[in-house]
Amino acid sequence: MALLTVKNLNIEYTTEDGVLQAVSDINFELKEGERIGLVGESGCGKTTLAKSLMRLLPENGEIVHGEIIFKGENLVDKTTEEIRKLRWKDISMVAQSSMNALNPVYRVGDQIVEAIQAHTEATKREAIERSEELFRMVGLERKRLQSYPHQMSGGMKQRAIIAMALALEPALIIADEPTTALDVIMQDRILNQIIQLQKEVNNSMVFITHDISVVSETCNTILVMYGGKVEEQASTRDFFKNPHHPYTLGLQNAFPSITDIGEELISIPGTPPNLLDPQPGCRFQDRCPFATDVCKKVTPDLSEVSEGHLVACHYTDKVDEFRIKAKENSTWQFVQDRLAMEGY
Ligand SMILES: Nc1ncnc2c1ncn2[C@@H]1O[C@H](COP(=O)(O)OP(=O)(O)O)[C@@H](O)[C@H]1O
Ligand SMILES: [Mg+2]
Repeated sequence: MALLTVKNLNIEYTTEDGVLQAVSDINFELKEGERIGLVGESGCGKTTLAKSLMRLLPENGEIVHGEIIFKGENLVDKTTEEIRKLRWKDISMVAQSSMNALNPVYRVGDQIVEAIQAHTEATKREAIERSEELFRMVGLERKRLQSYPHQMSGGMKQRAIIAMALALEPALIIADEPTTALDVIMQDRILNQIIQLQKEVNNSMVFITHDISVVSETCNTILVMYGGKVEEQASTRDFFKNPHHPYTLGLQNAFPSITDIGEELISIPGTPPNLLDPQPGCRFQDRCPFATDVCKKVTPDLSEVSEGHLVACHYTDKVDEFRIKAKENSTWQFVQDRLAMEGY
């Protein structure tokens, strides 16, 4: 049985301008010990999906349809109190600015010790030993347990939060761009630490990032989100060796170090769709160099191109041609010109 099964998940926000369809028809399964990477540009619904898994959507957000089955139980039906018991202990989350979640008036070590004691039978001594072990795992010196948050750098605080997320050995950790708020060197160090950690703790993970080079090292499976939908789902190997969706091909161009292209490629012109009023057909149609009239009218289903590899594109049979063309700047220049002509 899967640890987590997300079925037909649809999430909407009520806004002054109307109803925004942030997440549409998401389906995936996460097995015990599996790590899924969620990639896609900003505004594509990644954080909304992540928050919904812990039932932490803001007031104006609502799961309008679908199920989130965790260890056999549907989290969508649970009361706030029932969900609170699961947080940290069964599912924990590290967000982009989690470091601000540390309480400024308590020593960081005391906060971790308290969390451990609140949720387990551990004695104070055991909780302290566990905290020291956790700090070692995330690369913080033991003496840092005595520090107050303001005495630590952003990177240290984010490491402390990662330690906190690991503290109760949750079956699932959700990491939503956990290093984006940090400088590049610190990002690199912490990501290496996370990769290292995964060799020690075999927890399941949903790892969210707009940087696909990160998921290549951390995840088994990759979900590409665009306009609130999953456009491609593949093993990490297939994602890099056998990408299909034109959006995936465009995303990969932004990371030449992975695809070994050597030459500088332009990124995908345009921006993700407005989810207040999504147009019919494929959500990527405006920015897709290969879109036809069919793409404007008919929404492509997510369908299997090989075992475990799903793609939502009408033209998966043309993938060889698409891959060659997607590596030429003229292909994307054509999109840029088309968008300019249409007044974007
Ligand atoms: N609290 C909110 N109220 C209204 N709209 C929101 C809210 N949070 C996010 N959105 C909208 O939902 C969509 C998905 O956003 P988000 O989940 O943050 O995407 P990502 O994490 O991929 O950047 C975007 O169109 C965003 O503007
Ligand atoms: Mg986000």
